[in-house]
Amino acid sequence: MTLAYPDHLDNLLLERTDAIALLTVNRPKVLNALNTATLDELRRLVLALKHDETVRCVILTGAGEKSFIAGADINELAVQTPTGGRDLAMRGQHVLDLIENLGKPVIAAINGYALGGGCELAMACTIRIAADTARIGQPEINLGIIPGYAGTQRLTRLVGRGRALEMLLTGDPIGAHEAHRIGLVNRVVPPGELLKEARALAATLASKAPVAVRYIIDAVNKGLQMPFGEAQVHEATLFGLVASTEDMREGTKAFLEKRKAEFKGR
Ligand code: CAA
Repeated sequence: MTLAYPDHLDNLLLERTDAIALLTVNRPKVLNALNTATLDELRRLVLALKHDETVRCVILTGAGEKSFIAGADINELAVQTPTGGRDLAMRGQHVLDLIENLGKPVIAAINGYALGGGCELAMACTIRIAADTARIGQPEINLGIIPGYAGTQRLTRLVGRGRALEMLLTGDPIGAHEAHRIGLVNRVVPPGELLKEARALAATLASKAPVAVRYIIDAVNKGLQMPFGEAQVHEATLFGLVASTEDMREGTKAFLEKRKAEFKGR
């Protein structure tokens, strides 16, 4: 099944090269803050990318040199009602869930501020690479609110309860090297190297067997929400399913023939 790409994008840029899609949040005047319109475009684009078999890896970044995403748009938050606030949070959570479970790797290339919803979006990605100038945090407490795009949950799972609570309660952002030290980002590179590094990693991931990639992401994400024993059964089921793919036969045959495997996604 394929899904049409949106005809027109106001707040995002999409570039597709080979099997890699580069998606840029493009509201640099407000440091790429996520308003409702941007989140909705993101949802539609992410669904199209999910169903596009020619795309095997996605890179997500922010326009300009200053910011990845500086959070949800505070203009919209400032006029929220209780029911509207709940809807806004759930809409954002839904989009981030789609990204987390896209079935292909999404690399966050964090080129500056990743605050609030920006940090939350980065945490929903599969892998995070940060420019050494990046500042990352959950400053919602300073606005008298709490994170709404599952930041309290993903941050805790990534860095542990103590560190998560410190970041959530102080609201203080941390630098890229500290984020790396505590496991919040996978790699730190000079700003000029960020997209090059992300593209190189994307090319590596895009060369892997797509069904196996999808199942690994699924086993990790779903497994985290299950008791260990059930997660093992889920893994075993996916292990059995992947054994039915042409790529499994190609991967094992290529190893035995001492050549590089050519995976087709079947
Ligand atoms: N929403 C709306 N506008 C924002 C924004 C946001 N999250 N972040 C920055 N902007 C706007 C600023 O209002 C400013 O607009 P004007 O030029 O019209 O004044 C423009 O972007 C540039 O920002 P600054 O002048 O503030 O730039 P700076 O370099 O002085 O500071 C910053 C940079 C420290 C990132 C600062 O902009 C800032 O603190 N931003 C807010 C960060 C934040 O609190 N994020 C969390 C939002 S809440 C959330 O995300 C909830 C959730 O979980 C869903």
